[in-house]
Amino acid sequence: MKVIVTKDYEEMSRVAADIVSQVIREKPDAVLGLATGSSPIGLYRNLIAMYEEGRLSFKHISTVNLDEYVGLPVSHDQSYAYFMRFNLFDHVDIDIGNTHIPDGCAADLDEQCRRYNSLLATLRQDMQVLGIGSNGHIGFNEPGTSFDSVTHVVDLTESTIRDNSRLFASIEDVPVKAVTMGISNIMNAKKIVVVANGSNKAQAVYNMVKGNVTEDCPASILQRHANAVLVCDTLAAAKLQQ
Ligand code: GLP
Repeated sequence: MKVIVTKDYEEMSRVAADIVSQVIREKPDAVLGLATGSSPIGLYRNLIAMYEEGRLSFKHISTVNLDEYVGLPVSHDQSYAYFMRFNLFDHVDIDIGNTHIPDGCAADLDEQCRRYNSLLATLRQDMQVLGIGSNGHIGFNEPGTSFDSVTHVVDLTESTIRDNSRLFASIEDVPVKAVTMGISNIMNAKKIVVVANGSNKAQAVYNMVKGNVTEDCPASILQRHANAVLVCDTLAAAKLQQ
């Protein structure tokens, strides 16, 4: 995969936003696969700025999000549905009806997964935005997930629960399950941009870019994608340069 190392989070966010905005300009009705987490917030901030300056429109864009916690209603400030409205959708001209996020509160989660898979079959991502977990997860595909997986319900690992607990009042409040696109759904995207920053991502970034392609590091599969680019800061890139 192509690697772009930037000096800090701000530059990483600008470069990644340029890559995503290019897709939107070339194809105004593109399908964007979107990610949550702290890594892409700056990217979204840059896209919002381009919209505010009249340089970008989301009017005909559709979006599919990677994942959602099980059991958090959309009104919960840690649900990914809330995150997307707060960090992007509420600030641009997107038609909210064209935005799709798995429903982690669906009564029948298996049925929800099947529906999301059918949706992804019709809405193939022109560009998929990804972050990476410190254990190498993408979406909520934890180490050990099959590369052939499609949308499914996952039990979050202890390390992911611990990482994400910083955003909740206490670790007991972090959901233990999530619905996530599978790895094959992610690999089906025409283009992929991964954003990663901070020293806590350095090992996962190394395993993703230079490690063996193994289900022990879900992100390592991206080495086999024809059009994947990593944009990361120098801290996250530290082990690549050794
Ligand atoms: C969560 C999300 C992932 C995200 C990861 C890293 O687990 N499901 O999509 O990539 O966190 O988050 P952050 O960017 O906050 O480090």
